[in-house]
Amino acid sequence: MSLQDLLTVVPAGSEEEELVRSIDFGRLPRHVAVIMDGNGRWAKLRHKRRVEGHRAGIHAVRDTIETSARIGLEVLTLYAFSIENWKRPQSEVSTLMSLLKKYLRSELDTLLRNNIRFRVLGRPHELPADVQEELQRAEERTSANEGLSFNIALNYGGRAEITDAVRELFRELLHDGRDPSRIDERALAAHLYTAGQPDPDLLIRTSGELRISNFLLWQIAYAEIWVTDVLWPDFRRRHLLQAIGDYQKRDRRYGGITTV
Ligand code: FPP
Repeated sequence: MSLQDLLTVVPAGSEEEELVRSIDFGRLPRHVAVIMDGNGRWAKLRHKRRVEGHRAGIHAVRDTIETSARIGLEVLTLYAFSIENWKRPQSEVSTLMSLLKKYLRSELDTLLRNNIRFRVLGRPHELPADVQEELQRAEERTSANEGLSFNIALNYGGRAEITDAVRELFRELLHDGRDPSRIDERALAAHLYTAGQPDPDLLIRTSGELRISNFLLWQIAYAEIWVTDVLWPDFRRRHLLQAIGDYQKRDRRYGGITTV
């Protein structure tokens, strides 16, 4: 997956081709995380029900995964359902669950064909049993894949993740009779849902809201944030390319001094 791979799907002479050619493939973000927002507003603008916005959002999900795999990103994380989203009307929640199930069923072959590894971040054991089964199947079937790691944050909360990690870490320490004062950042990170994956370099949020919404609180410590007014169902390859292009113009200092 590379520049050549992307150019096969981008119309020659288009603005998108220009965007692709402006990207430095040697300096890609390793992990891109996305807060997919604006489905409800997208539907409202079209006098449709909110769930139609979620349905349309699936096209953006497909496009973003395909582009991420073609670019050669290591990890893509999409925020699909937060712990707080249970507060939504029951009918919206159940439509989201059934969309997710359908998506996993219909896309599993594509994930396998493209060497994509699927992983759930969150508390999947609290989801309906049929959704859990589908998630587990997709995780197991793709577990040996070595291309893009595609994470879905589902029944996810950043504070819940840190709490789960601390609880697990303490359980292990007590079991092994080890000293808790030896806990360090590395030990905690190794118990997060994203254990073994690099932290996001780039965090994208659609629909113009300037909030983190309890997403990957630990992991985004040094992420570059890119916000667009585009509503999630309209998000496409060119927007991801723009985000990566802008990311590459940033000076990442990690608390140090500027290098240019
Ligand atoms: C935010 O828009 C979006 C969500 C809470 C759900 C995102 C889900 C999908 C795109 C579909 C399923 C996903 C996968 C990965 C198959 P909102 O409803 O908060 O929009 P609003 O702020 O305009 O009301």
